[in-house]
Amino acid sequence: MCSITILLAAGASLVHGAQPFRPQPLKSGIEFSSAEVRALQHDDFSSPAMLWATRGEKLWSESAGASGKSCASCHQDARASMKGVTPRYPQIDPGTARLVNIEGRINQCRTRHQQAAALGYESDDLLGLTAYVGMQSRGLPLNVVIDTQNRRHFERGRDMYYTRMGQMDLACTHCHDRNFGRKLLNDTISQGHGNPYPVYRLEWQTMGSLHRRLRACFFGVRAERPAAGSQDLLDLELFLAWRAQGLTVETPGVRK
Ligand code: HEC
Ligand code: HEC
Repeated sequence: MCSITILLAAGASLVHGAQPFRPQPLKSGIEFSSAEVRALQHDDFSSPAMLWATRGEKLWSESAGASGKSCASCHQDARASMKGVTPRYPQIDPGTARLVNIEGRINQCRTRHQQAAALGYESDDLLGLTAYVGMQSRGLPLNVVIDTQNRRHFERGRDMYYTRMGQMDLACTHCHDRNFGRKLLNDTISQGHGNPYPVYRLEWQTMGSLHRRLRACFFGVRAERPAAGSQDLLDLELFLAWRAQGLTVETPGVRK
């Protein structure tokens, strides 16, 4: 608990509406991870996250829904068609004018193009497809563009990031900008980037989405948790993607 006291003491006044900034130097969460976690993430043969990516690869060419089509029927080889896609998300879907992340986009293809049911947010199938699509962009820099269409979502996400919340009265920025590199209970606080997600988390003993991780942070400060896939978490994801510009996609990642 004493490290939490340090955080509170270090807390600044409400930074709501502040000019957003990127932590310097920008560092991926893997740099704050143990040697064991780094070794797992960096070796596809021993990474447990690869089981999900492989599941995604298999689903890619299986027909689904009333259309009888597979992802591959329309998108052919994912290694070519999905390369560079994940770094552009979340983005506005021209059809509905709504902000979608990769999970949402995949589910749109399920319902719109395959006439199949949407996959559950935290289901192994959706995690697998998200990991497989993301993996095609490993090493490519995140590059969401903030424009007139998505600015409102970006600003909502930014404001959430800088607003104190929960019984502990802390904002994301208090941990991930002011205290990265410090210990909090058993964790080393990172800069809070989403670039390796979905990840296999040893503590969960399974794969989990970025929204699951974000919910854990809300829980950590005893704040009400927005649902996975909710507008709140999508807006926050857009802000995080902007803030992580300069880092590369590391999907599928591994975490403690
Ligand atoms: C019948 C054709 C069809 C099928 C089947 C299909 N898609 Fe799509 N997909 C599209 C079209 C068309 C788009 C462009 C956006 C739109 O119109 O919905 C798209 C867009 C995407 C994108 C975003 C690409 C980008 O450049 O932003 C992803 C990711 C994606 N699909 C994944 C999948 C996955 C995974 C599956 C299988 C679960 C799948 N799609 C099945 C037609 C299809
Ligand atoms: C009390 C401190 C604290 C607060 C406040 C907090 N987090 Fe975290 N967060 C952590 C810890 C601890 C972890 C796990 C270790 C790590 O990766 O930083 C974590 C992990 C993360 C990760 C995963 C990073 C990775 O590389 O796996 C993201 C993304 C994240 N937080 C975003 C947020 C956002 C957005 C908020 C505000 C809604 C927030 N956090 C609020 C402590 C906090």
